[in-house]
Amino acid sequence: MYGHLSTARFADDYPQFFARGEGAKVWDVDGREFIDLMCTFGPILLGHAHPEVDAAHNETAARGDVLNGPGPELVELAELLVGQVPHADWAMFAKNGTDATGLALTTARAASGRSKVLMARNSYHGIDAWALPAEAPGTTAEEHLNTVWFDYNDLDSVEAAVLEAGEGAIAAIVCTPHRHDVYTDQVPAERAFAQGVREICDRVGAALILDDVRCGLRIDLRGSWEQHGVRPDLSAWSKSLANGYALAVLLGAEPYREAAGKIVATGSFWLAGAPMAAALKTIDILKATDGIATMETQGTRLQEGLRAQAQEHGFEVSVSGPPAMPLLLFPDDAPDFAKGLAWSGHCANHGVYLHPVHNWFLSTAHDGAIIDAALERTDLAFADLKRAL
Ligand SMILES: Cc1ncc(COP(=O)(O)O)c(C=O)c1O
Repeated sequence: MYGHLSTARFADDYPQFFARGEGAKVWDVDGREFIDLMCTFGPILLGHAHPEVDAAHNETAARGDVLNGPGPELVELAELLVGQVPHADWAMFAKNGTDATGLALTTARAASGRSKVLMARNSYHGIDAWALPAEAPGTTAEEHLNTVWFDYNDLDSVEAAVLEAGEGAIAAIVCTPHRHDVYTDQVPAERAFAQGVREICDRVGAALILDDVRCGLRIDLRGSWEQHGVRPDLSAWSKSLANGYALAVLLGAEPYREAAGKIVATGSFWLAGAPMAAALKTIDILKATDGIATMETQGTRLQEGLRAQAQEHGFEVSVSGPPAMPLLLFPDDAPDFAKGLAWSGHCANHGVYLHPVHNWFLSTAHDGAIIDAALERTDLAFADLKRAL
């Protein structure tokens, strides 16, 4: 296994291969049941195998999922998203988050005729070379020449990156809604930072790209920087759009429409209708059930419960992130993250699937009873860790 889904470094019993999921639970191929606090690393928003979403998906699939051109779902979904996300005047669909962030940058470059992109150190925007660290194996030095780095929440470092890149050369500044890098606590975006980045983009004539791939639909239906009063020019979405079906979208403001229409952008499966039908149903249910509020309430209970348990067991922990995307780290755990690896292994043994260093995800299927059951099991895992140490 490769990438972040490899469990090679994890505890021996930590599951690698899965057989099925239902609601807030997953089962591995050995038949072990887990309360799932990872939600497929984001895509599962309403719970696994959601019957109404699956029915909507399957109904469209039965008529033909991938045809010679898009079906009506594309228009309906584009209209829904453009109506829901204030900065958006048009939509362009693809499959993965990397597609959406890449399309955003290509559009920004086509619109401005410029090449440079500014991004935060350690932020993740997918696997295109421009977004990877210079030392990423298999990428060439030339592929990294146009990326200039700054520190998240540090406007002075953004200004330094602007100087380094040259004002007239910057096509875009790309940001995640908050700092959600692996191996470290999640940190909210400071309002002044979000607004400052917007102002810098306006001053230098660059596009502000908000990478909402991981946070989208878990924080704010309108886009995750609405809370700061900041609207991007382009926003990239994927993971949770279709409750597990493959779909991504680039949303853009009017001044970028023409450029988006000119770029070379296509994929054999990008316009498949069934995931779009699933997305229409997913967003419909999320809104009708006030799902974001549910995740916030239950996520807060989980975060508070974990903090209290850790204290009772005598562990110092940091629990960070928005309630729908919690993360627990042991502060003195780097560089090998031994405590986190051991604790997540104990959690798996007690039937909770979570991650030692990557933020977790809640879904609307995580109700009070599930959170209580999860906390009972994490409590046992803290006790195991204490005994082991
Ligand atoms: C913020 C962010 N951007 C982009 C991506 C890339 O998405 P994908 O893995 O679907 O290509 C991810 C994936 O984790 C992400 O978290």
